[in-house]
Amino acid sequence: MPNRKKEVKKVTTHVLQEMKERGEKIAMLTGYDFSLARILDHAGIDVILVGDSASNVMSGHETTLPITLDQMVYHASSVVRAVERALVVVDLPFGTYQGNSKLALNSSIRIMKESGAHSVKLEGGKEVEKSVRRIISAGIPVMGHLGLTPQSIYKFGTYVVRAKEKAEAEKLLQDALILQDAGCFAVVLEKIPAVLAAEVTAKLTIPTIGIGAGSKVDGQVLVLHDMLGITNEFSPRFLRRYMNLYDEMKGAVSRYISDVKNRDFPGDKEQY
Ligand code: KIV
Repeated sequence: MPNRKKEVKKVTTHVLQEMKERGEKIAMLTGYDFSLARILDHAGIDVILVGDSASNVMSGHETTLPITLDQMVYHASSVVRAVERALVVVDLPFGTYQGNSKLALNSSIRIMKESGAHSVKLEGGKEVEKSVRRIISAGIPVMGHLGLTPQSIYKFGTYVVRAKEKAEAEKLLQDALILQDAGCFAVVLEKIPAVLAAEVTAKLTIPTIGIGAGSKVDGQVLVLHDMLGITNEFSPRFLRRYMNLYDEMKGAVSRYISDVKNRDFPGDKEQY
């Protein structure tokens, strides 16, 4: 009998929609490289976001603004090579889609063609509607992102909770409806009041994915390096740390250093 590869039911945008409809929560994490993306996929994560937070956690920049399209393609293709089941969403980096829908389409096509990813994400509401419509018209699924939008950090000046005031909350709801109407398959809601996130989630038919947006959204996302405790200087209220890898890895490296210095490594059985 021919050797048949194990069938894996892939997560698609349609699967996410079905999950919302039956009330099943969506689990999303960021991923930027092959080895960690493989662990996320084997663990059963639904969505891997190749976030432009790579600019912070992989490259040490203070903001997400410096990361380039080439760098996003590099991270995305490493993740795609690792994944069998999860949906891979890739952030369009700053300066590759704002204010120019043709540029937005070309940037998205590059990501899809060169990395093999399944969809793109961009930040903003009404102001990016034309870009969203144009990307989707080429058959590329788009995830929106509202609330705290880190690419606009210099406009807002701080990373505090967004949309606490009525006018901003109303604009956010309108933007979410615009993104849904334009054809987005899901929307990330970052750092907004839980009550507002619940209202947006109830009004939208597409899934909402929250980060610092409470529990009444359709799914959750965290930055992988934060939830694993690889980063240790960033502790917002919404973050749950599942490990403290900073200390564990530092301890392991320290032990290795002393084993080398003390001539304990390699031992007799660790050589040829
Ligand atoms: O880039 C990123 O990691 C993100 C998440 C915070 C949603 O956009």
